[in-house]
Amino acid sequence: MILETIITTRDAAGGDHIAPMGIREQDGCVVLSPFRPSATLEHILRERFAIVNLTDDVRVFAGCLTGRYDWPTLPAMHLPCGRLACALSHAELRLERVEDNDVRPRLWCREIERFNHAPFRGFNRAQSAVIEAAILVSRLHMLPREKIDAEIAYLAIGIGKTAGPRELEAWGWLTTRIEEFRDGRRESAA
Ligand SMILES: Cc1cc2nc3c(=O)[nH]c(=O)nc-3n(C[C@H](O)[C@H](O)[C@H](O)COP(=O)(O)O)c2cc1C
Repeated sequence: MILETIITTRDAAGGDHIAPMGIREQDGCVVLSPFRPSATLEHILRERFAIVNLTDDVRVFAGCLTGRYDWPTLPAMHLPCGRLACALSHAELRLERVEDNDVRPRLWCREIERFNHAPFRGFNRAQSAVIEAAILVSRLHMLPREKIDAEIAYLAIGIGKTAGPRELEAWGWLTTRIEEFRDGRRESAA
């Protein structure tokens, strides 16, 4: 099973770097699989640690895909890195082993400690829709226009029926990004 999370790492200047990333739990480890090139990959290889943040504020996912990286962090307990202030829980990880690959290395990490900050409040279709739309936005260059249109039309149903203000804001950022991408294409084709 893959869980969609926000990974925080420490950049070369000592600042917090935030990126959405899927994780798997396998053989007692947390496995991250960043595609090359990736700042997250670079940071974890250098610092040998990462933080997994679980959040239901889907604006962080949509924000990172649309150039909004300035999400508040708080100091972690064991690592010189921030964890997301809006995390329901976070886990501090040490890099244990690298399974190298030219396209997508696997980073096997061991949990130092996990912290719970707020309860899970239940499933919400609009939150899932925002995550799906964020993945579509991360693949705009690869996917045909018709597929994006069809998927956005379907996801919009869950947004219309179940979104709260945070989900609506995130949805707006993502749909605007799709329009901007298409406008850019039209300009470059002209
Ligand atoms: C829900 C979600 C899951 C993602 N999972 C991954 C992943 O597992 N590996 C990856 O390389 N990128 C993943 N991405 C895309 C990265 O977040 C995106 O490429 C980002 O720029 C990471 O690059 P960076 O490490 O250079 O900041 C995901 C995006 C979303 C929205």
